[in-house]
Amino acid sequence: MLIKRNPNGIDIPFASEITPRAVFESRRAFIQKIAAGSIAGGALLEMATREAFAATSGTVQKLAAKANPAYVVLDKPTSYKDATTYNNFYEFGTDKESPARYAPKMQTRPWTLAIEGEVRKPMTLDIDSLLKLAPLEERIYRLRCVEGWSMVIPWSGYSLAELIKKVEPTSNAKYVEFVTAEDKEMHGLRRPVLDWPYVEGLRIDEALHPLTLLTLGMYGEVLPNQNGGPVRIVVPWKYGFKSAKSIVKIRFVKDQPRTAWNLAAPREYGFYSNVNPQVDHPRWSQASERRIGEDGLFAKKRPTLMFNGYSQVAPLYAGMDLKKFF
Ligand code: MTE
Repeated sequence: MLIKRNPNGIDIPFASEITPRAVFESRRAFIQKIAAGSIAGGALLEMATREAFAATSGTVQKLAAKANPAYVVLDKPTSYKDATTYNNFYEFGTDKESPARYAPKMQTRPWTLAIEGEVRKPMTLDIDSLLKLAPLEERIYRLRCVEGWSMVIPWSGYSLAELIKKVEPTSNAKYVEFVTAEDKEMHGLRRPVLDWPYVEGLRIDEALHPLTLLTLGMYGEVLPNQNGGPVRIVVPWKYGFKSAKSIVKIRFVKDQPRTAWNLAAPREYGFYSNVNPQVDHPRWSQASERRIGEDGLFAKKRPTLMFNGYSQVAPLYAGMDLKKFF
C-alpha cells in the first residue's frame, strides 16, 4: 500500500491528532469515575460514544440501531471527522483526502447487491431490503490498517451470517468473494493501481463468524460513501483492506478467490491478512500502531494485538501456521 511520508520518513500527522486539553481533561475525569466504580454498564457505553457522536455530519439520514454490548470495545471512538476524512478508497484516489472529496458524488440509490454462485437461493437485494433483512445493531470495532494506523468506529449493521442463512450456500461454497462497484465517479479506476474491480474474500467459516459485519451505517447515520456506502463488509480481526467497500456482489465459490491486493503484491498481502504483530510486512513492522486522532505528535504508539484483540476468532485458525498463511 502506498504511504505518504515527509522527507524525514515520518508519517505526516494531522493537526487533529493533537488532543485538545479540554477533551483530554474530561476524558481523564471520565476514566477516574470508571475506576471508582461510579459508572457502569450501558451508561459506560453511552458516555464513551457521546463525544464521538457529537460531531456527526448532522445532514445525513439517521439510522436507528440498537447497541450490542457484546461487540463493543471500550477504547474511545475516533471522531466522526477523522473517520470520514482520512480514508483508503483507491477507486477515488490513492491519498487519504480524495475519498471524502470525490466519493459523495457517487449515486447510492438505487443500489443493488447480487448474491450468487454456490447458493440454493441466489438473490438481488436493494438497500431497503438489506436494511430490513435483520435488526440493525451498533457495534464499536477497532479497525487496524495494514499501513500501521488504527481507528475505533461505531458501525451499524448485522452479522453477515444473517444474509448467508437466507441464500442457503451449497456444500461447494468454501469461500466468499466481495466485489466493489465500478462507478463512473471513480476516477481512480482509470489508473492500473489494482486489477479492478476491487475484490476481497474470506473463507466461508470466517464469513459466517458473528463478528463479520454487513455494514450499512456508522455513528448512527447511513454509511458515508467514502467509508463504503451504501453497503460494505467489516472484518475487525483482519487488516482493513479485507473490508471491501461499496459492494455490489457477494459470490460463493469453491476455490480461494483471487483478491485485489494479493494479486498486486502476493509477498506483501496474503489472503488471510489477520492482524498479527508477530508477522511483519516485508517493508515495515506490524508490532505497533498509531491511533488516528488520539495520539499527539510525540505520543507512543500502541502495541498491536493478535487478531486486533478479537481472540475469539483464534479457533478458526487452529493448527495453521500463521506465518505461512499470513
Ligand atoms: N475497499 C475498496 N473498494 N477500495 C479500497 O481502496 N481500502 C481498504 C478498505 N476497503 C479499500 C477498501 C483499506 S486499505 C482500509 S484500511 C479500509 O477500507 C478503510 O476503511 P475506512 O476508510 O472506512 O476507515
